Amino acid sequence: MNPVLLTQLTDGIYTITINRPDKLNALNQDVLKALDTELDNIYSNPDIRTVIITGSGAKAFVAGADISEFNQMNAEQSRQMAKRGQDLFFRIERSPKPIVACVNGFALGGGCELAMSCHFRIASPNAIFGQPEVNLGILPGYGGTQRLVQLIGKGRAMELLMSGQNIDANTALQYGLVNYVVPQEELLNKAIAILTVIQTKAPLAVAGCITSANAVFDESKNGYEVEVDAFGNCFNTEDRFEGVTAFLEKRKPAFKGK
Ligand code: COA
Repeated sequence: MNPVLLTQLTDGIYTITINRPDKLNALNQDVLKALDTELDNIYSNPDIRTVIITGSGAKAFVAGADISEFNQMNAEQSRQMAKRGQDLFFRIERSPKPIVACVNGFALGGGCELAMSCHFRIASPNAIFGQPEVNLGILPGYGGTQRLVQLIGKGRAMELLMSGQNIDANTALQYGLVNYVVPQEELLNKAIAILTVIQTKAPLAVAGCITSANAVFDESKNGYEVEVDAFGNCFNTEDRFEGVTAFLEKRKPAFKGK
């Protein structure tokens, strides 16, 4: 049987490809479990500096949660499924290492939610985004109602959530859901170019940016206080000394993540 995820580590960039192309990379329980294991790897493996998540084939990023699993579930099981999915997507969102979604086609339902849990998104022109769950008599359960509002604003999100209508890549760009639309064959290269720049920066400072920006949307936290803490923590690092010293010595810094 083919592995549900393909992975590759090159120059610190870890690429995870969801690999069920015949089912448009739908997120079944096996994929979710494998992604959770990969999150352990991302958090703990120092060789992984940054991450790309994409889909196998030229048609789909992820066409949603696997609908074929739905009819066997009762309400309690569906709650548990949503909670598990949300917890997994929180791990992506809260990863101290940047995670970028390369959206190479359909990003529907759980696929749109997965892309939105990443730190930012790049799309190919054939990408289609949407939360079509209302067509199935349900609603997004992996954080889609929250992150869509965060990323494109309440009015636009409400319309998409309630109508189940999809949007194309250019509309997603106009809405700010994706940062770039590039030809499909350039998609990974565009992400690699951006991540290569990020990898020259101090990893703990980058992690502080993620924590602080995420705090904007966390009602249990005061984002400004989170920023003050992250800023103060960076001052204790070797990399802060290196960064400032390198500037004063007019040379490039060599950061170590310490
Ligand atoms: N779950 C399970 N299987 C899915 C799936 C999903 N979310 N999305 C697509 N597939 C499967 C199809 O059942 C089909 O399998 P089969 O060949 O064994 O019949 C295969 O992937 C190809 O999909 P198909 O529908 O034939 O492709 P298409 O080009 O005609 O349509 C979509 C593409 C994305 C428009 C259509 O597949 C679709 O609407 N998918 C569901 C999207 C959705 O509602 N997602 C939210 C789920 S909560």
